[in-house]
Amino acid sequence: MKRLAIVLAAGQGKRMKSKLYKVLHPVCGKPMVGHVLDAVNQAGCERSIVVVGHGAEAVKSYLGSSAEYVLQEQQLGTGHAVKQAGPLLAEEQGTTVVICGDTPLVTAETIEALINHHTRKSAAATVLTAHMDQPYGYGRVVRGENGTVLRIVEQKDCSPEEAAVQEINTGTYCFDNAKLFAALEKVTNHNSQQEYYLTDVIGILVRENEVVEGYAVPDVRESIGVNDRIALSEAEQMMRERIVRGHMLGGVTIIDPSSTYIGAEVTIGSDTVIYPGTFLSGKTVIGEDCIIGPSAQIEDSIILDGAKVKQSVLSQAEVGRESTVGPFAYLRPGTKLGSKVKVGDFVEIKNASLDDGAKVSHLSYVGDAKVGKNVNIGCGAITVNYDGYNKSITEIEDDAFVGSNVNLIAPVKVGKGAYVVAGSTITQAVPENDLAIARARQENKAGYAEKIRARAKAKKQRQQESE
Ligand code: UD1
Ligand code: CA
Repeated sequence: MKRLAIVLAAGQGKRMKSKLYKVLHPVCGKPMVGHVLDAVNQAGCERSIVVVGHGAEAVKSYLGSSAEYVLQEQQLGTGHAVKQAGPLLAEEQGTTVVICGDTPLVTAETIEALINHHTRKSAAATVLTAHMDQPYGYGRVVRGENGTVLRIVEQKDCSPEEAAVQEINTGTYCFDNAKLFAALEKVTNHNSQQEYYLTDVIGILVRENEVVEGYAVPDVRESIGVNDRIALSEAEQMMRERIVRGHMLGGVTIIDPSSTYIGAEVTIGSDTVIYPGTFLSGKTVIGEDCIIGPSAQIEDSIILDGAKVKQSVLSQAEVGRESTVGPFAYLRPGTKLGSKVKVGDFVEIKNASLDDGAKVSHLSYVGDAKVGKNVNIGCGAITVNYDGYNKSITEIEDDAFVGSNVNLIAPVKVGKGAYVVAGSTITQAVPENDLAIARARQENKAGYAEKIRARAKAKKQRQQESE
């Protein structure tokens, strides 16, 4: 049976009190609607239609070509929203999953199990339900004496008896596609919110003697619907635990899961160890056998096998095999470290490549630079890359040695194997294997320190006497 999906994402999400459209709020770094669409796609839905309205352009530009779209111009309710997919889907034969864009925790496995239950029971509709201690805010699933589903009643329309029901509608359903669109024609907006409720389709199908099933989600945490920032933080917490567990099951050691934050799209190789206080976000890729943290903040970066990054901040950086970074390094966008590179404490690197074996051990700024193999950049050496208007490039070729506290005034080039003496301010190219020295010559005045001290002492004394 063909699998189809409709994702509801047209609402504004008033309760979020936000400028950002609700379904674009990230959970572990990934917008909620992204989590939902990934789940239906993974569950084998051949076509996924996203119903957009508020923030339509923003939602479409985020999801791109991974879905088809229909516009719901006015948000007249979830039933009205599903109906908008009619022109694209009504002629299809198959099973249609309908899911809300604000339920990011629902997994592909659960959708799969829901579809299987639905198929086994030859149902017209199957509701994914959950048993909640605190069902407030959700639609309640009302069952008959023999346990069959009769209808769903929204919180605002509940009688006291219905409000006491603890089985809720998660907002995810499976329908026989033709029966769904036929039933939607019969939905009215005669309710407290004057909306066309998708949930009314359940009661309509029951009245038509169709088979309507309820399938309870095994893990109730999956069912959270995010309507406000409190639920958003709860969803974040649950997703975070799920992600961290997934990495541990995949062979990553995580010393303290409760203080480790890993974004939904991060990948980590086996036998990597993550120390506490670490934040990994964006499309960060970490290889095998790495040691990350404590206290590393790594965003959209690539860390290759065997690298170590501690107490450092990385953004759009690449760290080669067996390189070490930190403590207290800041690798900014465009940093590319080869293998076995060492970047030590209080080093900032931006838009610069450091080839295999290069070392910048302490207190340096390397920006807009190309640094060759086995180059050593001494303590306090910096590239002077900016004149207030323009950025210029520094090139340091293989095996060169840049002494401590050197200023390399870009554009400038230090040739292969050259040696730049500590304290030099380099403004001209240094040819291969030359030694460059660019500092005032030292002069020693014999015994002069004694004289200076005596003079200073006398001055102090005169001052005290005149007071
Ligand atoms: C809905 C269900 C409720 C269920 C809960 C689960 C209905 C009537 N109620 O309630 O039974 O317990 O989800 O989380 O379906 N949307 C549109 N167009 C609209 C209205 C909503 O696209 O006109 C989208 C929203 O963007 C959202 C989703 O549908 O992603 C659900 O809407 P929301 O207003 O959050 O419904 P709930 O009140 O949470
Ligand atoms: Ca909701």
